[in-house]
Amino acid sequence: MRDPRYDILFQPMAIGPLTAKNRFYQVPHCNGGGYRDPSAAAAMRGIKAEGGWGVIFTEQTEMHQTSEITPFIELRLWEDKDIPGLRKMSEAMKTHGALAGIQLAYSGINGPNFYTKEVPLAPTALPIRTFTNDPVQARAMDKSDIRNLRRWFVNAAKRSKLAGFDLICLYGAHGFGIFQHFLSRATNQRSDEYGGSLENRSRFAREVVADMRDAVGDTMALTMRVSLDESIGDLGFSNAEVREFIEMNADLPDLWDLAQGTWEDCSGPSRFKEEAAQEVLVKGIRELSSKPVVGVGRFTSPDVMARMVRQGTLDFIGCARPSIADPFLPKKVEEGRIEDIRECIGCNICITGDMTMSISRCTQNPTFMEEWRKGWHPEKIAARGESENVLVIGSGPAGLEAARALSLRGYDVALAEAGDAFGGRVARERLLPGLSAWGRVMDYRLYQIGQRPNVQMYPGSELGVEEVLDFGFQNICVATGSQWRADGVARQHVVPMPGLGSLPAFTPDDLMTGRMPAGRVVVYDDDHYYMGGVLAELCAKAGCEVTLVTPAAFVSDWTRNTLEQGAIHRRLAEAGVKIVLNTGVTALRADGVEANCAYTDARRVIEADAVVLVASRASNDALYHGLKARRADWADAGIRSVQIIGDAAAPGPIAWATYAGHRYARELDTGVWGEDWGDTLSFRREITELAVD
Ligand SMILES: Cc1cc2nc3c(=O)[nH]c(=O)nc-3n(C[C@H](O)[C@H](O)[C@H](O)COP(=O)(O)O)c2cc1C
Ligand code: SF4
Repeated sequence: MRDPRYDILFQPMAIGPLTAKNRFYQVPHCNGGGYRDPSAAAAMRGIKAEGGWGVIFTEQTEMHQTSEITPFIELRLWEDKDIPGLRKMSEAMKTHGALAGIQLAYSGINGPNFYTKEVPLAPTALPIRTFTNDPVQARAMDKSDIRNLRRWFVNAAKRSKLAGFDLICLYGAHGFGIFQHFLSRATNQRSDEYGGSLENRSRFAREVVADMRDAVGDTMALTMRVSLDESIGDLGFSNAEVREFIEMNADLPDLWDLAQGTWEDCSGPSRFKEEAAQEVLVKGIRELSSKPVVGVGRFTSPDVMARMVRQGTLDFIGCARPSIADPFLPKKVEEGRIEDIRECIGCNICITGDMTMSISRCTQNPTFMEEWRKGWHPEKIAARGESENVLVIGSGPAGLEAARALSLRGYDVALAEAGDAFGGRVARERLLPGLSAWGRVMDYRLYQIGQRPNVQMYPGSELGVEEVLDFGFQNICVATGSQWRADGVARQHVVPMPGLGSLPAFTPDDLMTGRMPAGRVVVYDDDHYYMGGVLAELCAKAGCEVTLVTPAAFVSDWTRNTLEQGAIHRRLAEAGVKIVLNTGVTALRADGVEANCAYTDARRVIEADAVVLVASRASNDALYHGLKARRADWADAGIRSVQIIGDAAAPGPIAWATYAGHRYARELDTGVWGEDWGDTLSFRREITELAVD
């Protein structure tokens, strides 16, 4: 039963000529699959429809050949041939009464056009702005280019209609969409009627909306996604100017979609942004127009959502990441199952699928983008196979997810944990600066497991080979995690680094269990994800004089894929951490570390009282190999299978561990994991057909 506090979230609301069934609005988000994996992307949107979202959008859809953002993989609507694929997606979106939206993106100054080789067009001739400083510039549009672009928008609108969409979102946020490029004085330095005053800078948006209304406005709703604050100082499109723009053009679109000016700010990770972080930028905008307003802010709490609507800040609750972590969020609120919501942890791993052009993952929802490829449903799982029980050893993210999903399949599960507390690495890492929300990975799973009668939990149970053989479980799932290496082995050093023992050295595990360095500390980061930066912050907070040394060109290099890198560097610089890039550590010495230039190998000494080695991790796999060595005894012990999963198999991010746990549970007793595994592909793959003109 739904709590009446949340009734307001289920009130229908008009958007132009259409009505959304509730206030849950899945804002556009990409998924790393896009035009390469259209069936996977369509199935993912279909699951959101089933989960109760009132409005569901595509990711950004490139609408014309003169503007594309290769290498990133989004959707394309360049010609009629693109329509059938997109129709598949709109049909999936509309299966449960949701409105289906398409976001049309003309990327202007943000599109290098590597694939089409067309010259990029923008309001003003400036270098293309992407993540990679591409050596390409855009040509300034003349009046005929603008006329053409207006027509291309109309063409795209007509095709969107034919493809079955109800809404069109015009993209003008995150620095990516042409509407922002026209609105901002930074990217629009024109001296004609499209530049200068705000009224002139708004002209293009007004013209496009008018054109599109004429073409499709009687049946489709038009929304405009605008940047709340470009955050680049006086020249940029500021929050004050957005308000002026909306007041000046109050009734322009059928809905105002408000999103912060840069993608990094808008999809801010939990390490740097709280839930509803954009509230102050959004507040009051709704009063400037009679049109409904949607806003975002990693909303996972129905109380916060209801407050946003009740207090008149937003009409629709926009969600990207919360809808990825739990596509059934609206359904769970509706059914009064608040505690079953799988809350987004704000880690931004979902964004890495797009940034690496692979396919997205979600730490909390391992089924994300596997709905079609593997047939995984986030809320449904097949009943158990032939065997009846499983001993899961280790309660980190892999073990917890395996136990949760196995119990849903109906297996009797024993979860053995060597330590006194459950959660493994998550229990330790959640205590680090900025990572408390990551604790949701274990909180959600422990709660779910606690509701299941068929899971027995055994803390303080370090198991050896003999004990496992004696217990008589049919399936053994080894999820014993990993530990940080103390010998510096990672990328720079493939064998232990010289000088170990000459300087007090600490591992991340030491710091996480309270053994802290003091004085002048070198944090050597050859891991390159978040841990080095987080520990530098921890040591600085503890009063150490910290120097972060890394062979990479960026602090926490890989976090460029999670959009955190800039914020991490800024936070460390503000905390007084000295940052030394492109520099390795060749050896430890009694007075510090010997450092080398990553390019010239020039050596120097960085004086220090201690070093923190953020290198690689070693799997805790002794139990697994011990069991494998006793293969001949399995039958007598009643054992049918022994598997190793997660960090115990190969250390990786937490998302890799929850995926491994989920996969184990899904595939147990399905024959996938025989000794001769691997002859067939483990997921469905889409190969786009060769079309002949
Ligand atoms: C994986 C991912 C992909 C995104 N892709 C788009 C996109 O294609 N178009 C867009 O306007 N915003 C995109 N965004 C931004 C979201 O629409 C949203 O504004 C932002 O993530 C904040 O909402 P949230 O806190 O609910 O995630 C993306 C966000 C994520 C997490
Ligand atoms: S990957 Fe992380 S940030 Fe993205 S939806 Fe999942 S939990 Fe949230």
